[in-house]
Amino acid sequence: MKVYPRPEPGDQPSLLYPPYASTVRRAPARPPVVLPHTLSELTGPVFGHGPIGGADDDLTRQHAGGPIGERIIVAGRVLDEDGRPVPHTLIELWQANAAGRYAHAVDDHPAPLDPNFTGAGRTLTDENGNYRFVTIKPGAYPWRNHANAWRPAHIHFSLFGPCFITRLVTQMYFPNDPLMAFDPVSQSIPDERARQRLVSRFDLELTVPEWALGYRFDFVLRGREATPFEGRP
Ligand SMILES: [Fe+2]
Repeated sequence: MKVYPRPEPGDQPSLLYPPYASTVRRAPARPPVVLPHTLSELTGPVFGHGPIGGADDDLTRQHAGGPIGERIIVAGRVLDEDGRPVPHTLIELWQANAAGRYAHAVDDHPAPLDPNFTGAGRTLTDENGNYRFVTIKPGAYPWRNHANAWRPAHIHFSLFGPCFITRLVTQMYFPNDPLMAFDPVSQSIPDERARQRLVSRFDLELTVPEWALGYRFDFVLRGREATPFEGRP
């Protein structure tokens, strides 16, 4: 039986990272119990096949008018750890508006809502694992983690992949953002190279002249390990 490898040490955020205050309350207090992967984890279904279409992948066309902000294209590929494309997989996205405000009941940050921007989208990868969103660049926003805490501009993503344990929830950042160095969410990833994998790349080729700037961002989901576990899977 083939299995999915466990993450490399340092690659993933620390479950307990006291500078990121809410991890103190939610990090497990006891060592994790290793559960062998079974058919429940290795097979779907992982999401409903509700129709995706309309302006789901274009957050600038979901309302009567266009949103305020810098229009951007975010595109790339979804791959597994062996570099193989993950086709027809669901990608969901949510983000703040250009002023750094979420259209959400608990966001009381005193920045304006945009009636033409909800900040949620979704799409499926094509047969080669490619995806593409049109949206606006989100603003930085304050949060109450510590004194004068600001999140760098970021877009939240959720991907399902081919089975339950390939589910990935992550955040994408923008190049050269000075707030990243002060951000305990991104700094909770110990390995600097892993942190940099969360930073999108400005891509002039992706940019549409006189219309939108382009940022490229690839996702890598857990891949099938060629070598089976010894003993009990
Ligand atoms: Fe956020």
